[in-house]
Amino acid sequence: MRKPLIAGNWKMNLLYSKVPSYVEVLTKELQALHWTQATSGVLLAVPSPFLGLARELASKQGFSVAAQTIHEKSEGAFTGEISVNMLKDLGVDWTLVGHSERRQYYNETNESVALKSKAALEHGVTPVICIGETRAEREANQTHEVLRKQLAPVLTALKGSDAYVLAYEPVWAIGTGLTASDEQAQEAHAFIRSLLRAESPALAEKVRILYGGSVKSSNIKGLMAQPDIDGALVGGASLDPTEFAKIVAFSR
Ligand code: PGA
Repeated sequence: MRKPLIAGNWKMNLLYSKVPSYVEVLTKELQALHWTQATSGVLLAVPSPFLGLARELASKQGFSVAAQTIHEKSEGAFTGEISVNMLKDLGVDWTLVGHSERRQYYNETNESVALKSKAALEHGVTPVICIGETRAEREANQTHEVLRKQLAPVLTALKGSDAYVLAYEPVWAIGTGLTASDEQAQEAHAFIRSLLRAESPALAEKVRILYGGSVKSSNIKGLMAQPDIDGALVGGASLDPTEFAKIVAFSR
């Protein structure tokens, strides 16, 4: 059984000074909804200046904290970047990699995403590797081809490891209010799992595949009822801890 994982992606939102109240409200709401660590994992992908504080507060409540991106090198002259060993030093064990906004605005490629994912794993940081097609690609019936191309270098780079999470995020569903239907999402997830199975059946059983794109408390149940959806990567709806707690609780 794959334990559900619900990840909130704050993107470039909220403030350092709001982190304590966010964690407090999330904790209270989850208690009221009878959430326990045994039922699902909670991960908060926060802006890098918040990482240390968020980790300190979140870990006391059984939540994990992730960076939103990393550089593939351990150190060096890369102004503005953060490395995996900096995360480890802060006690942060997770990072998003290859989010579509990183691909779109910061020129991340399938190859650089593979390098970053590998660097994370080598330092004991779990990457949540994001893939997904654009609207034009879906309309041109290229979804499977795009997913295959995005995943291939990652699978090659990570061969031998199963300590990562994938997130299927159709770009047309991110921040648009347009969620993929339960069936559309399941179909893509089943395809991604078939690519994992081609590597090894054990890998396909183990690796969690999250869905992302306009997830809310009103649509999480239908998505989570699908056999190949193991959790969610939630952007906008994670900014409100009350709403995010409902998404976590309804994901069981
Ligand atoms: P959204 O973002 O939930 O606001 O659509 C999801 C994501 O980008 O991870």
